[in-house]
Amino acid sequence: MSIEPTPIDVNLAEYIRSHASGRDETLRLVEDETDAMGPERSMQTAPEQAAFLEMLVRLGPGRQAIEVGTFTGYGAIRIARGLTAEGRLLCCELDSQRAEIARRNVDQAGIGSKVEIRVGPAIETILSLPERPAFDFAYVDADKTGYPDYYEALLPRMNPGGLISFDNVLMGGRILDSKPDDGTAAMQGLNDLILEDPRVDSVMLGMADGLTLARVH
Ligand SMILES: C[S@@+](CC[C@H](N)C(=O)[O-])C[C@H]1O[C@@H](n2cnc3c(N)ncnc32)[C@H](O)[C@@H]1O
Repeated sequence: MSIEPTPIDVNLAEYIRSHASGRDETLRLVEDETDAMGPERSMQTAPEQAAFLEMLVRLGPGRQAIEVGTFTGYGAIRIARGLTAEGRLLCCELDSQRAEIARRNVDQAGIGSKVEIRVGPAIETILSLPERPAFDFAYVDADKTGYPDYYEALLPRMNPGGLISFDNVLMGGRILDSKPDDGTAAMQGLNDLILEDPRVDSVMLGMADGLTLARVH
């Protein structure tokens, strides 16, 4: 196909980031705190993507949301901000220290009462929930080998029309590898499954490290 995408170099990427709306002082403090954490800083959801997530939640019913992998709470703050006044966000985080940081940050952002953080393997947290539709929005952003299991566990727990979003679907470009590592192989399988899956409509976006949206029938 001869439709040429606009190549996004670092300058254009920075331009897009600088136009991410809603990056208030609280979010910038979380960005700075996360930035000071060293190499793991790169795990934070990109500001422009976090703004997009908030927009998506705001467009939907915005009642019940779940995040798989919370880190310092950056994405959680934006998802929670998109919820209705009665809306609730359940965050799943393996690491108790990160969960404490996220707790402090969501509290400082003024949306702490909407957010519950459960510490432990996310798959156990999800499977402990009743298997009935509950969530309008899900954001999957944890261990990549776990993505296929998160997808199957979340599907029956999504309301009709609910949206599951998956971060890092391009795996830093490794998604094209013919000899993929375990995480990339899991992502390749999931990307192919979602494309043909009659249970969802989907779209893959070239935002940040790739974001797939799967809308559950
Ligand atoms: C990419 S970071 C999440 C970034 C976060 N969503 C944000 O908006 O900045 C991935 C997080 O998933 C957590 N994680 C990894 N494996 C997990 C698992 N099995 N269950 C729950 N959380 C997990 C990591 O500790 C890490 O904090």
